[in-house]
Amino acid sequence: MTQDDFTVTPYAVRGDVDYDRVLEQFGADELSEQQRDQFPDPGHPLVDRGIFYGGRDVEEFLDAMNSDEQVSIVTGRGPSGPMHVGHVFPFYLAKYLQEQTGAYVYIPMSDDEKYFAKDQDFEDIQHWTRQNIREIMAVGFDPERTRIVVDTADSDVIYPWAAKFAKRYTQSTVDATYGDPENIGLSFYPAVQATHLLLPQLIHGRHRTMVPIAVDQDPHIRLCRDVAAKEDYDVYKPSAMLSRFFPQLKGDGGKMSSSDDAPTLFLSDDRETVRDKIQKYAFSGGQTSLDEHRELGGDPDVDVAYQLLYYFFEEDDEKVAELADDYRSGDLLTGDLKNYAADKVADFLEAHQERKANLDSFETEMERYSLTDEEREKLTGDLLY
Ligand code: TRP
Repeated sequence: MTQDDFTVTPYAVRGDVDYDRVLEQFGADELSEQQRDQFPDPGHPLVDRGIFYGGRDVEEFLDAMNSDEQVSIVTGRGPSGPMHVGHVFPFYLAKYLQEQTGAYVYIPMSDDEKYFAKDQDFEDIQHWTRQNIREIMAVGFDPERTRIVVDTADSDVIYPWAAKFAKRYTQSTVDATYGDPENIGLSFYPAVQATHLLLPQLIHGRHRTMVPIAVDQDPHIRLCRDVAAKEDYDVYKPSAMLSRFFPQLKGDGGKMSSSDDAPTLFLSDDRETVRDKIQKYAFSGGQTSLDEHRELGGDPDVDVAYQLLYYFFEEDDEKVAELADDYRSGDLLTGDLKNYAADKVADFLEAHQERKANLDSFETEMERYSLTDEEREKLTGDLLY
């Protein structure tokens, strides 16, 4: 086997990621044109334009969804800091699917995982858990069909299942899948995430579920699917849609990170900040001088302002094609492309921020999104009390 010069695990993403090779390594499939076509009409840029590019059992999920069966989406968040635009797009995809199909959406918050993985104290993680939950609520899910669970706060329902699954995971599997975990918390955590992925079926019985997630998280899905198959639980293996990493402003194709100093676009950024960051930091595919740009044109494929528009912020297919053409021909200048992108990003963020400002108190909102007593009972069944 040849040595790849990149690493992708849930806890480390390094080097120049070869996305197709990652699918091969993980044993996942490419998302086909034919599968993209089976998504609801109108489609979604995240699917149509390929930031979601891989998957597992996508066909089975689409078939169920298109036969009007009840389906569920699971997409979670490890809360260790403020959310940036790269963190939120799977949630917007989940919202779109919920609007189009009435899907249930399950949103687990892995505060335990982040505590194990990061050099932060517990209070800090709890702070971010609350903040992040408010951002996620601002996406605009239907609370009737959406549940948010927090690993430590909902341990009454999570732990019994995690314990059952943990017994099926050997240390050597975990070591081989994640690289030697730093502490026993991280050794155990895969059983917790397996619980997340099966929650909808443990509550509502066997049905098709989909996990839209960045490709580095696929190992969690793989182990969960193994466990689901091994045990005699009446569940389907969760399906998954795997995404590339959202473009970073500096544009090297790695994971957009809020933990290092590289500038990123936060959900809380105002219009001016967005414009500033994009003008200053977004990697440009344009030429260095105006004359050269007019003559030679720019390269949208490496231009971060264009990538932002392409993957998420410009829904109009014709407009996005026109921008690419005008940029290539040199008619559209880098500064103007950046301004256009900044406006689209800021419009989107303002709508998000307005929904956030209109939320009720954390406690009131959380009541709407918490598991009901009936759902809790489904999960705890015949436990002692
Ligand atoms: N582990 C994920 C992360 O670090 C967060 C997460 C927890 C998640 N549970 C999940 C994502 C279930 C998708 C589905 O980002």
